[in-house]
Amino acid sequence: MTQKRVLLIIGGGIAAYKTPELIRQLDKAGIAVRVILTGAGAQFVTPLTLASITRDIVHTQLFDLTNEAQMGHIELSRSADLLVVAPATADLMAKMAHGLANDLASTALLATDKPVMMAPAMNVRMWEQPAVARNVDTLRGDGVIFIGPDEGAMACGEFGVGRMAEPGAIVDAILAQLQGGDIGKGLAGRHILITAGPTLEAIDPVRYLSNRSSGKQGYAIALACIALGARVTLVSGPTSLDPPRGVDVVKVESARDMLAASQAALPCDAFIGVAAVADWRPSTTSDRKMKRVDKGTIGKIDLTENPDILASIAKAGPARPVLVIGFAAETHDLEAYSQAKRLKKNCDWIVANDVSGDVMGGDFNEALLVTANGSERWARTSKASIAAILASKIQGYFSDQA
Ligand code: CTP
Repeated sequence: MTQKRVLLIIGGGIAAYKTPELIRQLDKAGIAVRVILTGAGAQFVTPLTLASITRDIVHTQLFDLTNEAQMGHIELSRSADLLVVAPATADLMAKMAHGLANDLASTALLATDKPVMMAPAMNVRMWEQPAVARNVDTLRGDGVIFIGPDEGAMACGEFGVGRMAEPGAIVDAILAQLQGGDIGKGLAGRHILITAGPTLEAIDPVRYLSNRSSGKQGYAIALACIALGARVTLVSGPTSLDPPRGVDVVKVESARDMLAASQAALPCDAFIGVAAVADWRPSTTSDRKMKRVDKGTIGKIDLTENPDILASIAKAGPARPVLVIGFAAETHDLEAYSQAKRLKKNCDWIVANDVSGDVMGGDFNEALLVTANGSERWARTSKASIAAILASKIQGYFSDQA
């Protein structure tokens, strides 16, 4: 097997001090690393340090005549199997999202036809800025793979989400990407069916029963699977989110519609039930607005149980997807309830969320993956990172099966 090559672009953030360790670990894993260091990055880690550990020239200038003659910036990005931006600053992400190319790093990112992975690092308030969030969404839609940022204490003394993922986690993500021949496309040829968002159960033409699900986690998983080359069908309840680029979105309202749309989208290789399906619906739906007959009299709504979409799809039979993943919203005894739910609904994995905090509607999540082999905890991070971890687990599952 030929040696895999990573072009590491180091942006200007304090987390740049972790990049020599990242390079050392990649070197140990047998991966060749070339470095582009931005001017701001050079304020945090020196070209001499990086040249010493890579045993190579560190590239810093766009208009470097010697290097342009020997190996231009196009060649630099094309000769790699994967481009990794770590730390990915708000500035580098904004440049790539908007197609700007006014220095070596941004030009290499624009000139490449190879997958790009970003490990963002910035202050929590910067990370939460709508402008940054928009750029991250654009990049994700363009297929950029994100790792982190994590939550924790920051160099600036604050606490929150914005820390660069640890070098070990970035190396794991890089290895997952470089696995197999088709780099970054480990789910190519796979069809992944995802349900997301709440369901809406009509009482009458103006009233309904629903829940607080925003759809963010399911939409993020759809994007993460697209980034790995899958064909994705997203059966979505009502949300305010833009349809993710490249995903076949089927919009539905009620649980029964969601079940019918999911069944119509079969066959699939993996089903992921992320939707917060309403457990009950009104037994009857009035086609006229219900009136307040007598002031002070409160009407009653009879409820009927909705179908369980996850359990229906997971039922044993020829149409059952090879991998069925459910989500579990719990407030306590996560592991015990999730194992019980996994067995009861006949699914392979459960991603359990503790929804007692700000998970529903928020941008962050932490999870416990429960399988037949036990469980593993995923620390609190962005919903996008949880999505990337899950997508790479699915990729690992299918590559083990192959
Ligand atoms: N689910 C589903 N159809 C339903 C209810 C739930 O497909 N009618 C799926 C969800 O998409 C999720 C999983 O089942 O993947 C678990 O949902 P959860 O609300 O945690 O569990 P419930 O089955 O509703 O059980 P409980 O509320 O008692 O915890």
